[in-house]
Amino acid sequence: MSKADLTHFDEYRLQTQLKHSILQSYLGAYLAVLGTKHKTIVYIDAFAGRGFYNDSKGTRHDGSPIRALAIVASDKKFHDRVQCIFIERRPDHFGDLEARVNEFLKGTSLPKSPILQNAAFGEVMDGLSGFFNNPSTRLAPTFLFIDPCGVEGVRLRDIVEILARDGCEVFVFFNYDGVNRIVGLAEAKGESDTLRDLFGSQARVDRLIRALDSRSKPDLLPVNRSSRYERLPGRKAQKESLDERSRKAEAAQPRADHRQAA
Ligand SMILES: C[S@@+](CC[C@H](N)C(=O)[O-])C[C@H]1O[C@@H](n2cnc3c(N)ncnc32)[C@H](O)[C@@H]1O
Repeated sequence: MSKADLTHFDEYRLQTQLKHSILQSYLGAYLAVLGTKHKTIVYIDAFAGRGFYNDSKGTRHDGSPIRALAIVASDKKFHDRVQCIFIERRPDHFGDLEARVNEFLKGTSLPKSPILQNAAFGEVMDGLSGFFNNPSTRLAPTFLFIDPCGVEGVRLRDIVEILARDGCEVFVFFNYDGVNRIVGLAEAKGESDTLRDLFGSQARVDRLIRALDSRSKPDLLPVNRSSRYERLPGRKAQKESLDERSRKAEAAQPRADHRQAA
């Protein structure tokens, strides 16, 4: 298979290993605390994938759904309380996922079978709008894992719907460069549905783009962005890196403080 033919699941990259490691620690800690206090806990893997990765040596590595099931099955204090829900949009990935989950379940005893849905996460959330819009319904503590390829299909309103409720957590793992690329496209084209869904409104997207354009407000970017920011389309001409600017701003700080003190 040539490098160009490799898909996301044909490599087990460092970033994927880190993602799995964070997920396992985070979910394990969440269940250890809430899993003993509540009769029902929900775990949703909203972009579940195929259930496994293959590396270049032909070794198979468990995907996030299997890792979550293993954590649930490993502790009798909560193994009968956790309802896992795995959502995967692509039929071929869904078929692989179903087969891998069934294989896992044969080798373990799990009182609650996971629910698998071949659908887009947004569709599933739209289907539950009656539940979410009814103020008298309560959601069991829910851990939502959002791990898209890129950022398409991630809607801020779905995240808020879950995160706003008691005992709920959301772990979002997204491709920062992917967002940068889409921001670049939105700057060129004016609008992007993906960005509007991700940030929740066109007004927020516009604010982000204005912030990116404003050289005096680079700190509005959410993460340490110096080199990445420079790579945004249309920004190559900038001579001074943000790191350099930050260093200059820091160097100027003591003088400003001194003036204030005086
Ligand atoms: C990065 S992979 C998930 C990997 C998986 N979480 C893991 O660690 O094993 C993203 C998956 O989300 C699926 N996907 C893309 N858009 C989706 C959507 N809107 N709803 C549900 N699944 C989606 C893709 O087909 C792909 O299989």
